[in-house]
Amino acid sequence: MEVKVISTNVFASLQYRKTGSGPAIVLLHGFPVSSLLWSRVWDKIGENNTVIAPDLPGSGGSAGVPNLSMELMADAVKAILDTEGITQAIVAGHSMGGYVAMAFADKYQEMVLGIAMVHSIASDDTEEKKETRRKSIALIEKGGKEPFVKQMIPNLFSPNSSQLHPEWVQEQIREGLKVPAESLTAFYNAMINRENHTETLSNAAFPMLWVAGKDDGVTPLDKVIQHSMLASVNFVRVYDNCGHMSMIEQSERLIGDIIEFSKYCSNANA
Ligand code: MLT
Repeated sequence: MEVKVISTNVFASLQYRKTGSGPAIVLLHGFPVSSLLWSRVWDKIGENNTVIAPDLPGSGGSAGVPNLSMELMADAVKAILDTEGITQAIVAGHSMGGYVAMAFADKYQEMVLGIAMVHSIASDDTEEKKETRRKSIALIEKGGKEPFVKQMIPNLFSPNSSQLHPEWVQEQIREGLKVPAESLTAFYNAMINRENHTETLSNAAFPMLWVAGKDDGVTPLDKVIQHSMLASVNFVRVYDNCGHMSMIEQSERLIGDIIEFSKYCSNANA
């Protein structure tokens, strides 16, 4: 696994990890962590693919940027792919990473071989969700990052996982606490302001993979199913005993589904 850092006019530093060879897959992490989220799956996916796992701006080794948005994060992915000389890739996004994947698909459609939405949806926030995020931003700005992270992370796992593997929850809490408070609020503001990309799906010329957990308390299963009807080619995988974190809770299954999807996308494009 190579760790690389680039800088551009817009991004003072963008860190990413790279391994493997073959068709490129970008793994975009969700909130509130870094590319390390994918550490259980990237080596095996790298046996068939070139894996690029960026730290989105403001997390891991990547500096934050003013006025962060899904589009700016999509630009960060583009800058990394350009540096690597990669002209087409499958973009797999976990939750917030899926929102970035949709912005990327909208802005750089010609670079997309396929999009994998891992516990994620294509629409924007409901008013209720925006209000909840604003309250969390206020809490974090008052110095409440630690209680915020400690309260939100356990909800990402299925009850079964939290009971059998409390160490998974603790690991993600430690990862979440590493992210600066300013980055957490920047990510939340970017999520509040994100666009609805259901139209992007209706016009998609690329295949989609949808991965959902039956016990996901964050990403509503009914919305995933609705959105999986919009593009013309959709693979849908619904996991038992899985919350919002299949790359940890059901890592072997996720590896298999991403590799299968990658083979389909590469053959469809050959
Ligand atoms: C994530 O896992 O990235 C976030 O929970 C997404 C969200 O809050 O919408």
